[in-house]
Amino acid sequence: MTERTHGGSDESVRAVAPGRVVLIGDHTDYVGGLVLPMAIDLVTEVEGRRTGRNVSLRSEQFDEPVRIDLPVVEPQAVRPEWGRYVAGVAAEFRPLVGLVGTVRSEVPPGGGLSSSAALELAVALALGGGGDPLELARRCQRAEQVATGVPCGIMDQLCSAAGVEGHALVIDCATEEATPIPLPDDLAVWVVDSGEPRRLTESAYAARRTEAEAAADLLGPLRDAPLDRIEELDDDVLRRRARHVRSECERVRRFAAAMIDGDLSTAGELVTASHRSLRDDAEVSTATLDALVDELVARPGVLGARLTGAGFGGTVVAIARPGADLSDAGTGGRRVRASAGAHLR
Ligand code: GLA
Repeated sequence: MTERTHGGSDESVRAVAPGRVVLIGDHTDYVGGLVLPMAIDLVTEVEGRRTGRNVSLRSEQFDEPVRIDLPVVEPQAVRPEWGRYVAGVAAEFRPLVGLVGTVRSEVPPGGGLSSSAALELAVALALGGGGDPLELARRCQRAEQVATGVPCGIMDQLCSAAGVEGHALVIDCATEEATPIPLPDDLAVWVVDSGEPRRLTESAYAARRTEAEAAADLLGPLRDAPLDRIEELDDDVLRRRARHVRSECERVRRFAAAMIDGDLSTAGELVTASHRSLRDDAEVSTATLDALVDELVARPGVLGARLTGAGFGGTVVAIARPGADLSDAGTGGRRVRASAGAHLR
């Protein structure tokens, strides 16, 4: 990440921000848990000129362009919908100069690979937003919350901001500290599109967060909650949500250790166990995702598979030996590599 900011007028800018895949650690960030995502080599790029008093962007992914007058008043009311992320960022960073340009993105929209965080980070940098990766991430997280009403955690924006080539990040969401860990050379990461559009994501996501917070109100920080106290909870839903966060954070710790030891079989088992917990305790999976995970783990060379991101459809991540080929899985698999975080070019 560069320290340079582009605050001036009539200046050309080109900002790039990656999507992310969560190797392990989902539905834990919003209650101060541990997560382990990596920034990927599918990126969003904003290229343009800083000029005028509005933000006008065309997108190669969406037909309708966005035109937003500065200062932004109601980001959540902007149309077309993809413009809400742009407006949320503009409302948060309050640039004095506008931007006219183009958005190109390789991150499939709504697929669970954080297309929205990549767009937010790229727009923030293109508008002259500076600061360290954590500050940028916090501001883009707020932008997303304001623009969409979804109470997302810090993971996606922090991963897109702080990614390191060849590394995943262990993020402690209680301290918001991101620690890069090198990935073994013989580990292949695949993202497989389930073909199932994400459904119910917004309302069910908010409900999951509320339930986990209610469990934390009773037990304290869930990542360290004693197992016997979790099992004693009367409320079946809160008990399962707490169990998911507690066990998922433990899996993140063990996965990080396995990466450092090069113990790929253990890493794979943890990934698949994470899916079962997301299915049974967090209840964010679908029959399609479950079937795809089962199909993938039965293939030669696949070490483990799980849904990635918010769930309810979207993408499955698989970790595999280098020889495995998952390009024909689901409605299309793609090998991704761990990439650098958002930057100006
Ligand atoms: C979405 C949110 C993240 C995180 C994941 C689930 O991607 O934006 O903050 O909560 O879901 O782990």
